[in-house]
Amino acid sequence: MNVSSRKEDHIRLAAEQQENPVPHRAYDDVSFIHHALDGIDRTRVDLTTQVGPLTFAAPFYVNGMTGGTETAMIINRNLAIAAAEAQIPMACGSVGIALDYPETAQSFTVIREQNPNGIVFANIGAGRTLDDAKRAVELMQADGLQLHVNAVQETIMPEGDRDFSGWLSLIEEIVGGLDVPVIVKEVGAGLSAKTLLKLKDVGVSIADVAGVGGTDFGKIENNRRSGGHDDYSYLHGYGNSAVQCLLDARSAGLLGASDFTVLASGGVRHPLDVAKNLALGARAVGVAGSFLKVALHEGPDAMVEVLLAWKSRLGEMMAIMGVPAPDQMEYTDILIRGESRDFAEVRGIDLAGLASRSQEKE
Ligand SMILES: Cc1cc2nc3c(=O)[nH]c(=O)nc-3n(C[C@H](O)[C@H](O)[C@H](O)COP(=O)(O)O)c2cc1C
Repeated sequence: MNVSSRKEDHIRLAAEQQENPVPHRAYDDVSFIHHALDGIDRTRVDLTTQVGPLTFAAPFYVNGMTGGTETAMIINRNLAIAAAEAQIPMACGSVGIALDYPETAQSFTVIREQNPNGIVFANIGAGRTLDDAKRAVELMQADGLQLHVNAVQETIMPEGDRDFSGWLSLIEEIVGGLDVPVIVKEVGAGLSAKTLLKLKDVGVSIADVAGVGGTDFGKIENNRRSGGHDDYSYLHGYGNSAVQCLLDARSAGLLGASDFTVLASGGVRHPLDVAKNLALGARAVGVAGSFLKVALHEGPDAMVEVLLAWKSRLGEMMAIMGVPAPDQMEYTDILIRGESRDFAEVRGIDLAGLASRSQEKE
């Protein structure tokens, strides 16, 4: 199995998952308490968001997906054209393949070509060295680096790594040695408060919890196996949702800290899911699968339309809720039910405060 055909499998299987979405997501456990007279003038809503040293024009971004093949090149081109037009930050997929096989580099660099002035993140796996990280950033002329930790995926991946013991020290070295911000992320199993604290301890200042419930990489890798008794389907859906991770981060005092920014992603379907992540304390929200299907099947014009619509509709939601800026979403009243509530109770997280915090502001 060569690495390009693995990347093609990822695209095909991730797109298939979009056709058969998980019916219930943790975001469905979260609802806003509607206050019918809190609304403000839509023109007063400013979506600008600060993520570490970077200013995002809106509090969502295209999360790291692909590169390395012909199909990946088309997807990246379509996403980059739209990201440039809508001024939405965008990450590429793991640049590892371009470092190992330079002939594939153009499927990544197309992003910078199409979006010379926008915010672009390179992406690399946590097992890589500082030198690799520098090369990835240089190749993409990136404004930051996404560093993914994906032990579950690697384990189910037939050709994956099995030794995860060196990851934290490699992350420390990369964070200390790069002159652009580093965002550590999962790929769909979540980052617990314990993990976030470990990252903060080694100098990481931005992390995307990337929780379970959307694209399921365990399932993707399992679908690439031979089947029969060679089966890991019991690990489908393994991990914590972004909702759980954000509640956990809150309990550890990690939200709203001046030296640590928490981002969220995983299973975001529409602007209301973005709003829920913001209300739970994420500073910005990553979207992969929901954009992949448009970039793959519909092309750049549709992708532009989608990004502009998400921006506009998020602004509308915020106007309804009386929220002039993304970081003010933390004053909306939210109700948490179901499995997310069970998680909060067992972890000792108070949910009552979240349901009546808008009064604190008034
Ligand atoms: C086709 C595809 C390829 C991906 N490849 C990467 C990758 O190379 N590096 C990475 O950090 N995340 C990768 N991801 C994971 C996403 O960044 C994200 O964490 C995950 O898909 C969950 O978000 P979603 O539910 O919005 O898709 C990939 C996702 C997709 C759909």
